[in-house]
Amino acid sequence: MMKPTDILMQEHRVIEVVLDCLEGIVGEAISQGRLDQDAAGQALDFFKMFADTCHHGKEEVHLFPMMEAKGFHRENGPTGQMLLEHEEGRAHIQGMREALEQAGAGDKEALMQFARHANAYVRLLRDHISKEDHCLFPMANQAMSEADQQDLASRFHHVESQEMGEGTHERYLTIAEALAAKYNVEGSAVLAAAGTCACHHHSH
Ligand SMILES: [Fe+2]
Ligand SMILES: [Fe+2]
Repeated sequence: MMKPTDILMQEHRVIEVVLDCLEGIVGEAISQGRLDQDAAGQALDFFKMFADTCHHGKEEVHLFPMMEAKGFHRENGPTGQMLLEHEEGRAHIQGMREALEQAGAGDKEALMQFARHANAYVRLLRDHISKEDHCLFPMANQAMSEADQQDLASRFHHVESQEMGEGTHERYLTIAEALAAKYNVEGSAVLAAAGTCACHHHSH
């Protein structure tokens, strides 16, 4: 069985592919003086739904409370710090969203706002992901019993199948794939792995 944190790490790899794409989108926008609104809008949808709602949802609603029940502190503790970073990320997504349309029309100021939030978001999430992979998740695994692991796995499955809806995960993987192709980001292995077994989906 894949551990719940293995599922989260697999999602991290997918998120990293789209972070690379976002850098490509910003680079292209700076050199052309105009944001590709379609591509940027797709990346924002991905970050809002796949990264922030689905992935951060699993962490915030299920993993972190489980860790806190095992004695980790939220206040001044590791889960509290992760929550703060999720909030910061949400603010950057919002900042990009607000600038999207005008940046797409070639407005210089909006373009700079988009780029500023995008760059900050990329930096924040890469760093955040690295802390979770190397620090938070190992701590969580050490604290959880086999029964806890299974409980968490079934909660994650429920998020995917009931809350997000069957097929949602795949839809965002498809978006990631299209963006990776457009911006020459190597992501095929990561995306193929994430499409097969991460969340007990039946592939269509
Ligand atoms: Fe997180
Ligand atoms: Fe995460």
